[in-house]
Amino acid sequence: MSLQRVLPFTKSLLEQIVASGDRVIDATAGNGHDTLFLAQLTGPDGTVFAFDIQKEAIEATKTRVEGFHHVRLIHDSHAKISEYVDSPISAAVFNLGYLPKGDHSIITKSQSTLSAMEQCLELLQPNGLLLVVIYSGHEGGSEERDAVMEFVRTLPQTNFDVLQYGFINQQHSPPFLVAVEKKLKKN
Ligand SMILES: C[S@@+](CC[C@H](N)C(=O)[O-])C[C@H]1O[C@@H](n2cnc3c(N)ncnc32)[C@H](O)[C@@H]1O
Repeated sequence: MSLQRVLPFTKSLLEQIVASGDRVIDATAGNGHDTLFLAQLTGPDGTVFAFDIQKEAIEATKTRVEGFHHVRLIHDSHAKISEYVDSPISAAVFNLGYLPKGDHSIITKSQSTLSAMEQCLELLQPNGLLLVVIYSGHEGGSEERDAVMEFVRTLPQTNFDVLQYGFINQQHSPPFLVAVEKKLKKN
């Protein structure tokens, strides 16, 4: 047995929560790896809403999910999620930072990230998961990391469970995961 790395662990959580026919969000489509994974989990009866502000990322994701007609590619900021998604989702995933092999100066930013996270929490069905993989080694990354951590730390315990998963003895600010589960409402 070895400890699961952050990205495989994130995927294993998605596998546990996303069922065939679900609606889900990829808030940072990038090169489309998560979009494809989500499209496979929801199957053709579900819907994947994939957002990115860069045309290049939308095109890369389009190529990766060719033939998956239940993926909606949205060339817009995730800060506008609620303009595109109005019914409950089982999961939303964010990979913060810049597009690998793309323009490293175009990064996710605290204000839009927090706004998008709030909108996803509203949309989550009970037991649904918001997963945010945080990269903070780049310029501006630590500021966004701190803002996200402050936000999730103060989410009310009665409504949400918040988990942090990552390795704490590695060099160069390795990515870590923040997972937020929406709790079932008790009557
Ligand atoms: C780390 S990459 C995502 C990697 C992706 N998950 C993959 O599988 O390749 C972050 C992406 O977030 C996008 N991004 C930055 N700000 C955004 C925003 N406000 N709304 C949507 N996407 C944004 C960037 O353009 C970039 O493609």
